[in-house]
Amino acid sequence: MISQTPKTTLNDVLIPLLSFTLLFSQQVHAYTLIDTFNSSNFFSEFDFFSQPDPTNGFVDYVNISTANHNKLAGYSQGGIYLGVDHHNLTNGTTTGGRKSTRLTSKTAYTTGLFIADIAHMPSGKTRAEDSCGLWPAYWMFGPNWPNSGEIDIIEGVNTQKANSITLHTANGCSMSNNTGSISTTKMVSSDCEGNGGCGQQTQALETYGIGFNSGGGGYYIMEWTESFISVWFVPRSNAETVTKLLNTIDTSNSSSISITSSLGGQQPLATFNGGNDCSISNHFANHNIVFDTTFCGDWAGKTWKSDSTCSALADTCEEWVGQNPEKFVSAYWLINEIKVYQKKGGSNNKTKREAVRFRG
Ligand SMILES: *[C@@H]1O[C@H](CO)[C@@H](O)[C@H](O)[C@H]1NC(C)=O
Ligand SMILES: *[C@@H]1O[C@H](CO)[C@@H](O)[C@H](O)[C@H]1NC(C)=O
Ligand SMILES: *[C@@H]1O[C@H](CO)[C@@H](O)[C@H](O)[C@H]1NC(C)=O
Ligand SMILES: *[C@@H]1O[C@H](CO)[C@@H](O)[C@H](O)[C@H]1NC(C)=O
Ligand SMILES: *[C@@H]1O[C@H](CO)[C@@H](O)[C@H](O)[C@H]1NC(C)=O
Ligand SMILES: *[C@@H]1O[C@H](CO)[C@@H](O)[C@H](O)[C@H]1NC(C)=O
Ligand SMILES: *[C@@H]1O[C@H](CO)[C@@H](O)[C@H](O)[C@H]1NC(C)=O
Repeated sequence: MISQTPKTTLNDVLIPLLSFTLLFSQQVHAYTLIDTFNSSNFFSEFDFFSQPDPTNGFVDYVNISTANHNKLAGYSQGGIYLGVDHHNLTNGTTTGGRKSTRLTSKTAYTTGLFIADIAHMPSGKTRAEDSCGLWPAYWMFGPNWPNSGEIDIIEGVNTQKANSITLHTANGCSMSNNTGSISTTKMVSSDCEGNGGCGQQTQALETYGIGFNSGGGGYYIMEWTESFISVWFVPRSNAETVTKLLNTIDTSNSSSISITSSLGGQQPLATFNGGNDCSISNHFANHNIVFDTTFCGDWAGKTWKSDSTCSALADTCEEWVGQNPEKFVSAYWLINEIKVYQKKGGSNNKTKREAVRFRG
């Protein structure tokens, strides 16, 4: 008899191939890389904000052409340099204050994992008093402030020595003081509403300003989910921990990963748990990423008199900042890279939005 063994058909070959491909593409990843901002694309993906400072700073935020012409921003030292004028006197009468830069991402995000590799942040060069007048921030916020929320990842003023991490929302969002933040971090206020916000004050010098810069900076990792917002800091000396985290994100087959365990058990500097008293999904949406350096204004200016180191230098913050340009030679951001990951269900869209922000 002639063998009934059928010939191999095209389908026999295709079906296993197909199911292999399906299996492969259905492989679960907790996070997918959505955007990378680095010295290949940063200035195409961020806009210069050149309006008057909504926080009333003694600052003249310049546009891209002025920034370029005066070397206030550009690709430099392998990263993205965002600086201020540290040459010229100014009394602010015609310009509003010292020239500086504020940049806003074109893309807005709802939830995600944001890993910023930052080599240098604005501060005095070596002495705390040389930070007097400064108010740098790396932060995110959404439209119709404060209804879509604000997340301040790195922020501080004057001689502050460690990072303050703060959220701002509309009415109805309060965070528990039993947070899971590292034990040295103090929750200053639990109600996130409005200008005051819910802040957590960290203690380690390596997280901010001169201490941060002396270690070559490091990695700020912010995870925003539907139930919590957390911020970790990894100093550059532990960079391999972040490499491991990135590797875990890329290779994990699990639908969720713990950043804390992926960082070898390192607790977040600050965690904000929504719980029963704050629906993160209702209070945070469509955030653009912002880097800026302002002077004086609603925070550094208003607290000038209560900072004994700064107030010993000059009667007003504006006078000090206007007359001492050389103090601000280290008042620059140097960003190596920002990676943005999202889970299935996170959303992002390109929106060129003139970013405003209020603070009283
Ligand atoms: C920027 O990131 C992209 C995407 O990962 C990469 O291809 C490129 O080499 C990076 N550029 C630099 C200067 O690191
Ligand atoms: C940038 O700002 C300068 C100084 O205010 C102004 O003269 C110039 O027209 C602006 N350029 C653009 C492209 O807006
Ligand atoms: C500082 O002043 C000089 C001389 O007026 C000018 O050429 C330069 O553009 C100014 N620098 C900045 C950053 O404004
Ligand atoms: C402020 O500076 C401008 C330009 O440098 C100068 O013309 C003006 O007289 C100054 N005003 C005061 C009050 O010092
Ligand atoms: C949270 O608890 C710590 C430690 O008990 C305390 O120092 C801090 O004031 C509390 N914060 C708030 C907002 O209650
Ligand atoms: C994830 O799944 C792939 C394919 O099944 C496997 O090769 C890989 O080792 C798994 N990765 C981890 C971290 O378990
Ligand atoms: C896109 O962003 C705009 C402004 O931030 C927002 O109003 C809109 O809802 C966003 N769309 C999606 C799909 O997230």
